[in-house]
Amino acid sequence: MRRLTTIDEVRSWRRKRAGTVGFVPTMGALHAGHLSLVEAARRENDLVVVSVFVNPTQFGPREDYARYPRDLEKDEALLERAGADAVFAPSVEVMYPPGAETTVDVGSVAAPLEGERRPGHFRGVATVVLKLLGIVTPDRAYFGEKDAQQLAVVRRLVADLDVSVEIRACPIVREPDGLALSSRNAYLAPAERRAATVLFRALRAAEEAWRQGERRGSVLRETMRRTLQGEPLAKIDYAAVADPATFREADMAQGPLRLLLAVHVGETRLIDNLLLEP
Ligand code: PAJ
Repeated sequence: MRRLTTIDEVRSWRRKRAGTVGFVPTMGALHAGHLSLVEAARRENDLVVVSVFVNPTQFGPREDYARYPRDLEKDEALLERAGADAVFAPSVEVMYPPGAETTVDVGSVAAPLEGERRPGHFRGVATVVLKLLGIVTPDRAYFGEKDAQQLAVVRRLVADLDVSVEIRACPIVREPDGLALSSRNAYLAPAERRAATVLFRALRAAEEAWRQGERRGSVLRETMRRTLQGEPLAKIDYAAVADPATFREADMAQGPLRLLLAVHVGETRLIDNLLLEP
């Protein structure tokens, strides 16, 4: 597997190879969730490129950019085993050279929930994803449903700016106890790790109500809240029942709904979500 660190290296690596390219953008600290994206890319393309870049522009000033886990050697060993052909691991200076000032603002889908709680986050995500797609020029790019709103933002970006790439969505990979895999799970102390299962328990409680025929968003939301409030280490940021296309709050929907949670467990902010289908 090749390590590429400059844009020229990526372009020349790409020029010398024939076949379709699957691309998996990540911030590293790779786990089985990321690797499931790599495996999907491996199945569907001749070549697989993974980027590892902790993108500063998507972190807020009081967020965890400085302490975000970084271990490129370990990530490369995992990617090698998963069958990636190249890893693109640029420096901040390569991605944001002096003078760079263009950003991408995706519209209304980026406004609620994560967009409201983390101002500028989706601008940072959309800008770096567009840049990465322009550098790698893949045939397909792979994103996890773990970050469902991010996936919708990327789909909007690609549609609106006519980016020639197929966006592929991959299901959430979970621990046996239901906790969605996340690089940020590494921050959790043992008692917090146990408490963190409350997100999935809350999603499942609302899903059970949905199965029993409950369609009122307000009741589904309360069901999640009640479960979350039963966990003393958890503090709700949001518990939302949203239209899966717009991410706006939905009530008495005819079609599908997405349950979305952001919860602080101790100092660590975790997100999770679940799609409810009629
Ligand atoms: P990161 O958090 O590293 O996630 C990279 C990709 O892995 C995202 O598409 C995310 O949804 C997916 N992923 C993470 N945990 C997952 C899980 N448990 N199951 C399935 N997929 C999972 O998301 C980012 O990085 C960044 O915002 C990025 C898109 C790279 C732009 O900087």
